[in-house]
Amino acid sequence: MSVFNEYARYYDLLYRDKNYRGEADYIHKLIREHRPGARTILNLGCGSGRHDQYLEELGYAITGVDLSEEMLSAAQNASINNNKREYIHGDIRSVRLDKTYDVVLSLFHVVSYLVTNNDLKSAFLTAKAHLKPEGLFIFDCWYGPGVLTDPPTLRVKELEDETISVTRIATPILYPNDNTVDVDYRISIRNKHDGEAKTLQETHRMRYLFIPEIVEYLSYAGLSPLFFSRWMETAPPNDTTWNLCVGAKR
Ligand SMILES: C[S@@+](CC[C@H](N)C(=O)[O-])C[C@H]1O[C@@H](n2cnc3c(N)ncnc32)[C@H](O)[C@@H]1O
Repeated sequence: MSVFNEYARYYDLLYRDKNYRGEADYIHKLIREHRPGARTILNLGCGSGRHDQYLEELGYAITGVDLSEEMLSAAQNASINNNKREYIHGDIRSVRLDKTYDVVLSLFHVVSYLVTNNDLKSAFLTAKAHLKPEGLFIFDCWYGPGVLTDPPTLRVKELEDETISVTRIATPILYPNDNTVDVDYRISIRNKHDGEAKTLQETHRMRYLFIPEIVEYLSYAGLSPLFFSRWMETAPPNDTTWNLCVGAKR
């Protein structure tokens, strides 16, 4: 079952200011460098399809897979009458589409939602199973050295659109012996027209990763690491890096 339940309904508002276009451009650059000529993408944990929209504009045909029906229906609604994007309900630890792609992506910490070693190995096997020879796998995740140097703290985010105002309080609990963080999300939503208010709560368990274990699980799945960089940069990560970008080849 997906942890993205009711949270999904407010996802696009909560991440309204996230630079999806800039991120799609960054991915496009990496693809041109490491898999020139690529045309097809499988996006594992595509969510509401925000990267897909921009990647499609850059000329790619995209298949998105996600476990959350709510996130997928947002992606589907945004791509109605569109034949360069398709969305499929599935678990990235086990889904098999019987098709291969030039590139497999998994963006915005999807891999950090895989908290056990077996989950990680299974998802990497899924990536491998859907890659053409020489195909490229790119994902990002929480990076252990950065998380431990600057541990997560309580954060409050307030947003509104023409109908609702939303306050999200994120309270993290770090489990350093498990390399995980439980992020407790409490979300209060108020309808600006009738004043009706409700709150919801979800806990997202996240795993932070270290390069040697990533190398191990990639090689278990038959993938060779190509690069490790800071997300949205080309520089190597260091102990202030929270978000790691990883590239691997089949
Ligand atoms: C933080 S969101 C990122 C969504 C999207 N990639 C983006 O950049 O906006 C994490 C997504 O991973 C999906 N997810 C988590 N675990 C999954 C799994 N095992 N199989 C498929 N999707 C999963 C969630 O449903 C959610 O849509």
